[in-house]
Amino acid sequence: MNGQGFRILGIAGSLRAHSYNRGLLRAAAELAPDDARIETFDLAPIPPYNADVEAQGDPEPVRELKSKIHAADALLIATPEYNYSIPGVLKNAIDWASRPPEGAVLRHKPVAMMGASTGNFGTARAQLALRQAFQFTKSFAMLEPEVYVFRARERFDAEGNLTDEDTRDRVRALLEALIIWTNKLKNG
Ligand SMILES: Cc1cc2nc3c(=O)[nH]c(=O)nc-3n(C[C@H](O)[C@H](O)[C@H](O)COP(=O)(O)O)c2cc1C
Repeated sequence: MNGQGFRILGIAGSLRAHSYNRGLLRAAAELAPDDARIETFDLAPIPPYNADVEAQGDPEPVRELKSKIHAADALLIATPEYNYSIPGVLKNAIDWASRPPEGAVLRHKPVAMMGASTGNFGTARAQLALRQAFQFTKSFAMLEPEVYVFRARERFDAEGNLTDEDTRDRVRALLEALIIWTNKLKNG
């Protein structure tokens, strides 16, 4: 594995302080190989997508999001599941970052995904919806390993820190696979 100076941008699809998915990203930052760095981007300041606003120029938080995606070697998304899909805040951020389609920062960007939910299917349906969005953006969403953290209450503490060792191992394996996947895409 060559993770020399590997930059990962982590994005959680939840705004709440003790979010399990924000906790998953914190765990990923702890578990990343020494030569990889995970920076997280908070979606709270991203306004609702509006083509009229976009036509006047991207708002500052959107510019920042796009520039961080551009600078990252790969993205790591931690998504909750809302009504069998991804939360609006995450979809909204993808919508902004997918524009304009020619030369969009999401195009050909390697992406890994994971997700925690309180339900029994651990965001399986949300991750399918996420893959569908990344098909349109032509992002390189990694196929596996799949990380579905089901019954999240049993795996995190009250502050949303990931305490379950098996899940921590899965997050570690996802990061290792993401570095290999990205290097393969870059170097063939
Ligand atoms: C609007 C809404 C819809 C939800 N829909 C689902 C769902 O379809 N499947 C599921 O497993 N959990 C669902 N949940 C429960 C979430 O999994 C739970 O709130 C989870 O903790 C959210 O992630 P977070 O901790 O990162 O904020 C829903 C929660 C909300 C607020």
